[in-house]
Amino acid sequence: MYSLKELQELIHKEIKELQTGDEPKGLYEPIQYVLSLGGKRIRPALCLLAYQLFSRKEPGAEVIFPAIGLEVFHNFTLLHDDVMDAADMRRGMPTVHKKWDDNTAILSGDAMMIKAYQYMSMCPENNMSEVMKEFNDLALGVCEGQQYDMDFETRNNVSVEEYIEMIRLKTSVLIAGSLKIGAVIGGASQRNKDLIYEFGENIGIAFQLQDDYLDVYGDPAVFGKNIGGDIVNNKKTFLLLQAYRKAEGKVKTELDKWIENKDADAQEKIDAVRGIYDSLRIPFLSQTLMNEYFDKSINALLSIDADEKIKEDLRQFAINLVDRVS
Ligand code: IPE
Ligand code: IPE
Ligand code: MG
Ligand code: MG
Ligand code: MG
Repeated sequence: MYSLKELQELIHKEIKELQTGDEPKGLYEPIQYVLSLGGKRIRPALCLLAYQLFSRKEPGAEVIFPAIGLEVFHNFTLLHDDVMDAADMRRGMPTVHKKWDDNTAILSGDAMMIKAYQYMSMCPENNMSEVMKEFNDLALGVCEGQQYDMDFETRNNVSVEEYIEMIRLKTSVLIAGSLKIGAVIGGASQRNKDLIYEFGENIGIAFQLQDDYLDVYGDPAVFGKNIGGDIVNNKKTFLLLQAYRKAEGKVKTELDKWIENKDADAQEKIDAVRGIYDSLRIPFLSQTLMNEYFDKSINALLSIDADEKIKEDLRQFAINLVDRVS
């Protein structure tokens, strides 16, 4: 059995050695670029941890390649997401659409999705249909979540329930699906597959709540993305929804003014909206909700019928996902 650190080294090595084509350079260089910038690589790590939990074996190519496919797929979604969010920085470096252009991000992204399918289909023959179904479901789920995310930018009556469903789709289904694919290849029972998915769904929601928090309160040097992009884009994060709910009188008027003003100076708007969040103690509410989803995820994890020591590794991993600063 590999430790988490060993699994992470394995993932790092596989991604470094990953072969894309050479020509045309305009297609493949951006792929090499984004994959070389690192990132936390949590999705393949979760896939391999889930595999080990159920197979009790060290992972071989039949699960390592699908795990890499999940990371390539994730990176593809980032290329398109950064176009959609007009985001200029990721992992401390210019985003692909910024370094090249939008068309490059679109087409290199498309090629990465196809690469991801190639890797996914390297799973064992006898798991093929189940793995592909999970992968198709999660891929479509991400698209659905991303569409809601965009639709919500121009809506002012988004409920917390709608927000949670949106982040479940755009973020959790990939995290939960990564765990489940590892579990499928590792030979888990149906009950355990469902439970590990539930663990992933809830930890994914907590993870996105933390991402939304860091988008306002993170240190750009560590977070690697520009701070305040969600505020500029009027993203309906939990922070903004709660601010709407709690703001009254002059504060409410001011918040409305910033959200409606299309020509606002970006930095002034970020500072003003962050100030409103602070005055309404919104970060505390976000932290509280995050803890709720974290606890739900751990309950599902603890119900899994498997080795307690490896479950503990997953619990530690989950703690790091919500405590993170990057
Ligand atoms: C970014 O994912 C997109 C979200 C779902 C918040 P990560 O925070 O896992 O990004 P990297 O891969 O570590 O850069
Ligand atoms: C992440 O949402 C969802 C996907 C990339 C599919 P965000 O737009 O918040 O992710 P970041 O903050 O750009 O990484
Ligand atoms: Mg984004
Ligand atoms: Mg986005
Ligand atoms: Mg974000």
